[in-house]
Amino acid sequence: MTDDDAKQRHDGDGKDEPVAEDEARDEDATSATSADDEADAKATDAADDDEPEVAEAARVEVAASAKAKAKADDDDAPAKTTDRSKRPVTISAEGLSKFYGQFAALSNVTFSVRRGTVAAFLGPNGAGKSTTMRILTGFLAPTKGKASVLGLDPTIAEQRRELAKKLGYLPESGPLYRDMTPFESLSFFADVRSLAKPTKRIEAVVDRCAIGSVLHKPIYKLSKGYRQRVGMAQALLHDPEVLILDEPTSGLDPLQIREVRELIRELGREKTLLLSTHILQEVEAMADEVVLISEGKIAFTGTKAKLTKDATVEQRFYELADKHQKEVA
Ligand SMILES: Nc1ncnc2c1ncn2[C@@H]1O[C@H](COP(=O)(O)OP(=O)(O)OP(=O)(O)O)[C@@H](O)[C@H]1O
Ligand SMILES: [Mg+2]
Repeated sequence: MTDDDAKQRHDGDGKDEPVAEDEARDEDATSATSADDEADAKATDAADDDEPEVAEAARVEVAASAKAKAKADDDDAPAKTTDRSKRPVTISAEGLSKFYGQFAALSNVTFSVRRGTVAAFLGPNGAGKSTTMRILTGFLAPTKGKASVLGLDPTIAEQRRELAKKLGYLPESGPLYRDMTPFESLSFFADVRSLAKPTKRIEAVVDRCAIGSVLHKPIYKLSKGYRQRVGMAQALLHDPEVLILDEPTSGLDPLQIREVRELIRELGREKTLLLSTHILQEVEAMADEVVLISEGKIAFTGTKAKLTKDATVEQRFYELADKHQKEVA
């Protein structure tokens, strides 16, 4: 999608069903990019690597000092800062609106998630969680507003390709290649992503998502929970620094729910996670921050501690959702 395409979609007739490209990309959602895209991205990277013509010695010195600075900055990694409010913003939604004809699926949605945070995106059915996540991951263009992940704009093709290398997305419906086995599917995505150590990464995600027992069974034969685990494995395959997970525990058995929650907490130590749920206990179990959405509008953003200062997540959820519904009525 070019910038013009994106603009055209912004300026479209408002019906704005996901266009063919969206659908095609949805099919390939967990890879978040096609082989061609990946090749283009590499070409762009290579071009970006071209240095201006400077004396080699000076170039090396500049590079070394930049590297040292980057390392020093990294050593101060804000993800390790206990004060989360000082960390850089990784995921940002600024005034996002999405209209389907006259219907506003999202109205002026604004929130941000800082690095090294697990943010729960909480709201009832139809609240707009998946729509927001599809916009943040570049699968859907907003009618208005701006999304940004790691400083990259997902509506701009080149930036979306760059983002695909650093972002893992588990879509709601977990689109998978049904005729492939999990192993074939993971090998395919490892190849598309040109992973440096594909076998190692595949082994790591197979282990983390506990799919060893179904690794060579066609995906169409797998139960819902196992498909969800395969989707999760695909989202984690390239060890992305940002994860956007749409109902990651949906369809899982209690044991696996517990394991996924542990995995999410573990990932949250270094990565930024936005995960949607309407299971209130998930918020208690996993989140540092909460973004509460109701009928396409943000009802609360802040720390879990702030949300649960005087009441449980459940009470706060009903209170805020009720208040919000009265306000919009
Ligand atoms: N392509 C579409 N055309 C028209 N309306 C849509 C479309 N996609 C989503 N919607 C509507 O937008 C609203 C938000 O949907 P969304 O899927 O984002 O909700 P959600 O919070 O993810 O809900 P759930 O918890 O059920 O997954 C809903 O009212 C939904 O019916
Ligand atoms: Mg949804």
